[in-house]
Amino acid sequence: MDIYFPTKIHFADDAVEKVVGDISENFSSCLVITGGARTRGSSVFVEALRSLRTRLSSVLVIEGIHSNPREGEIIQAAKDARQNRPACILSIGAGSVHDAAKIVSVLINEDFSIEELTVERQGYNKIKNRNVPLFCMPSMVGTGTEISPASLVRIGHQKRIIFSPHLYPKAAYYSFKHIGSSDIELDVLTAFDSFAQSLEALTSQKANLWAEMYALAGIKNSLEGIKRLSVSGSSPSVWKQLSHASAQSLLAVANSSVGAIHALSDPLSGIYDIHHGRALALVAPKVLLANYEECAERYHVVEELISEILNLPKSMKLPEAVEAFLDGVAPNRKVGIPEIDLSDQGMARLIAESRNPDMEGAPKLLTDNEIESVFRSM
Ligand SMILES: [Fe+2]
Repeated sequence: MDIYFPTKIHFADDAVEKVVGDISENFSSCLVITGGARTRGSSVFVEALRSLRTRLSSVLVIEGIHSNPREGEIIQAAKDARQNRPACILSIGAGSVHDAAKIVSVLINEDFSIEELTVERQGYNKIKNRNVPLFCMPSMVGTGTEISPASLVRIGHQKRIIFSPHLYPKAAYYSFKHIGSSDIELDVLTAFDSFAQSLEALTSQKANLWAEMYALAGIKNSLEGIKRLSVSGSSPSVWKQLSHASAQSLLAVANSSVGAIHALSDPLSGIYDIHHGRALALVAPKVLLANYEECAERYHVVEELISEILNLPKSMKLPEAVEAFLDGVAPNRKVGIPEIDLSDQGMARLIAESRNPDMEGAPKLLTDNEIESVFRSM
C-alpha cells in the first residue's frame, strides 16, 4: 500500500495574503480562472486579484466557467492562456472552476483533445509532469476537488472523468471568511458531497485503514457542519468545519474510491446539467437501500453517528435517516430539476451511463433493475 499526497493544504480564517504571498515569492505571472458573476463579485476574488496585480508583472483573468464545466469553455480558456504563457494558475470558485483549471494546466503545454485525456482513453498515460503549477481557493466546499488528482468535465452531454497523479494542485487555501454563497440550500447540497464521498469511501471494496480514518472524520464533520449551516447560517466557524470535511472526504476517496451514488449522479449532471451535490442527494437514499445488505455492518456504524448528531431514532436505517436529514436541510432539492426522460430509451441511456468508472470499487454492482428503480424514485 502506498500513501502519497503532494498537495499542501492551508486552513485559515483569511487565506488571501497567504496564497498571494506563496505565488508572488515563486512566480512572476499568473492566470486567474474563475466562475460567473457570483464569484467575480465575491470579496475573495476582488481581494486576491487586487493584491496579485500589485505584486506580479502579469495577471491574466479568465472568467465564466460553468457548473459541470464544458469542453468548449476549457479549450477556449487553454487557447487564451497559451498566448500569455502564465508561470502558474490560481483558480478561485466552486468545484467546477478547479476541475477546469486542472485541464487548462495540462493543455497550456500539451496538444491533446479533452476526450483523449479521459480515463476511458487512458489519459493518465498521456498527462506528464509538464503542467503549469495550480493553486486553488474554493469559494464553496464539499467536493474536495481543490486537493484531488481528478477532473470532471462535460463532453457533449456526458460527464467524463480525467485522472492523473500529475493533476494534484500544488496547494489549496481554505479561507473560512470567504467561503459560502447567498444560497444556503446550494451550500448544503455542495457540502453533502463530503458526506457522500466519505460514506462511499468507507464502504468501497478498495477501502483501507487510512480511508476509514478520513471517512469517519468526514462523515462526522459534514453532518455536524451541514446541520449548523442549516440551523444558524453561514459563519467562518461553520466553514472551518465543512472545509475540513471536504478535505477529509477527498483524502478518504484518495485511499479508496467513490461508488454507485457518484456513478448514478453522473448521467444526471451530464445529460441534464444538474448540480453535482443536488444529483447526489437525489439518488443517495435509494442507492443506500440497494447496497444495504452488502454494507450492513459499516452502515450500522454510520447509523450510530447519524442518530447521535442529528437526534434521530437509533432504530432508523441509513437510507431512511439520510432521506430525513435531506428533508430537513435541503427540502427544495427536487424543485426546478429538469424533467427526466424515463421512457425505455431514456432509461436505457441513464443505465448505460451509470456504468462509468465511478462504479469501480462499489460494494456491489447494481443490476439494471436496481438502477432503474433509483431513477424512478427521484
Ligand atoms: Fe463528489
